[in-house]
Amino acid sequence: MIFAANLKCNHTRASFELYLKALNETLGTHNNNIFVFPPSVAFSQKESFFTQGTQNFYPCINGAFTGELGKEHLDEFGIKCVLIGHSERRIYENEVLIKAKFDFAKKQGWQIFLCIGEDLRTKQEGKTKDFLKKQLENLDLAYEKLIIAYEPIYSIGTGVSAKNEDIGEILDFLHTLTKAPLLYGGSVNENNIKEILKINHCGGVLVGSAALKVENFITLIKGSK
Ligand code: 13P
Repeated sequence: MIFAANLKCNHTRASFELYLKALNETLGTHNNNIFVFPPSVAFSQKESFFTQGTQNFYPCINGAFTGELGKEHLDEFGIKCVLIGHSERRIYENEVLIKAKFDFAKKQGWQIFLCIGEDLRTKQEGKTKDFLKKQLENLDLAYEKLIIAYEPIYSIGTGVSAKNEDIGEILDFLHTLTKAPLLYGGSVNENNIKEILKINHCGGVLVGSAALKVENFITLIKGSK
């Protein structure tokens, strides 16, 4: 099972240092399928047992792209794992940029966590599958280092995860399109994780709020068994 923490715009360099110290000390021998996506200013160069990924990057090595983060910056931290398509970034990024990021990451051989997910209206209109299929269009779903995170927007940050039967239906559907590992994200916490991980084709979770405090993330991982 994969446990991934998206820390979003939380944690500083100082606080993330304590975060990874606690993770390393507590889970160091526990599981090697743990991924953490800190803010880029908090990237660590320390040896860790888990994989550090970036929440964002620009598809370039370096260059005249003001404010962006290129491959050279990630290389300094040994980062070869990227999050693409999170709904909180899709507000600023269109499909063209998302595809460019995907193709660039694939060319580098990076591990890609691709986030997809519909909003409540799309769900209510019964258009979820068409919508998700479109989000996956033109992307290489057979890329061997691809992981797909299904994150319905209506469940993110609300404290209420999607219904397990809805998640199950969507993961079954996604499994017909790709053999990539499938994660669920959206208000995963220590109380619902066990049931979520039992859903057919669920290969793990992408966690936001419940991973912000390292002790909560640790409890969630330990309590998943
Ligand atoms: P929450 O766990 O806070 O709902 O966030 C999920 C998420 O967006 C992970 O990428």
